[in-house]
Amino acid sequence: MASLFGCVEVAEKFSPEASFVMACDDALTFAKSLPGDFFSLIITSPPYNIGKEYEQKSSLKDYLAQQKPLIAELVRCLKHNGSLCWQVGNYVECREVFPLDIYFYDLFKSEGLQLRNRIIWHFEHGLHCSLRFSGRYETLLWFTKSDDYIFNLDPVRVPAKYPGKQHFKGEKKGLPSGNPLGKNPSDVWKIVAEDWERGIWDIPNVKANHPEKTVHPCQFPVELVERCVLALTNEDDWVYDPYAGVGSTLIATAKHNRRAVGCDREQKYLDICRERLRMLSEGTLKTRPLGKPVFIPTGREKVSRRPASWGMEKTLL
Ligand SMILES: C[S@@+](CC[C@H](N)C(=O)[O-])C[C@H]1O[C@@H](n2cnc3c(N)ncnc32)[C@H](O)[C@@H]1O
Repeated sequence: MASLFGCVEVAEKFSPEASFVMACDDALTFAKSLPGDFFSLIITSPPYNIGKEYEQKSSLKDYLAQQKPLIAELVRCLKHNGSLCWQVGNYVECREVFPLDIYFYDLFKSEGLQLRNRIIWHFEHGLHCSLRFSGRYETLLWFTKSDDYIFNLDPVRVPAKYPGKQHFKGEKKGLPSGNPLGKNPSDVWKIVAEDWERGIWDIPNVKANHPEKTVHPCQFPVELVERCVLALTNEDDWVYDPYAGVGSTLIATAKHNRRAVGCDREQKYLDICRERLRMLSEGTLKTRPLGKPVFIPTGREKVSRRPASWGMEKTLL
């Protein structure tokens, strides 16, 4: 496969000899052209049908009906021991919230996939709602095609909160009870999303925008994909993103010596993906390091202090 220390070559059409493929096509048409039982991981964030620049909003029923044939194709392309990760938020109609993962679950289940985790991706920033509580998470459904699936926990362990904890009885009494490599990251992932669309993150000492920001209105963080790639695939395995956007999945895959296929029908996003891969191979692409703790304001930053004009803080109950 192409080394990241050389030039990353990105093919426009699928070939098992390529290492990276980025096709400009409709997701369903392209999926139909791919081989069966081939990908170790299929991971994506599909259009949410919320009227973004790259989608035509339709009824929830029509939207799901459009997704159904694609899902059947994706399951066909997935290896017997493979995983499929589907990252979604809410569809909103007349202020009513429809959590998309609830609807997608049935579509995947009817194709025979088994749910392993419903991961909560929690982030701190976003729109402030006035008629419901502000949404601060989206979900990632992790399905497998069989009981025999790849799960590498060690590369994605996170530091334990109390590494000094000891067994308090039995033969191991007094010995550390944790794992020296860290703990299981759990099914709640706190990964910085950033309010990329409005750029409100203006805390001093922190970049005004997430380092990965491009013109795409709905990128997902590379870090989110990296965790899935490391845990659910092995080196040299194939990963596929049917709605690849600016290629966050390809970046995460390339960082960890896997091969990747992406598809998006917008050429302008594909061009950015190629540029990001080129920068990655040259070592100039900025990505948030995997596992880097989320910034916690110290209270000394101007932006984290209560404006004097607001008067005294009210006492909390
Ligand atoms: C939520 S975005 C994915 C962004 C991606 N995860 C990233 O980090 O850049 C969904 C993408 O689906 C693409 N898209 C929408 N409908 C499509 C279709 N029918 N076929 C292929 N791509 C489509 C859009 O252009 C958009 O880039």
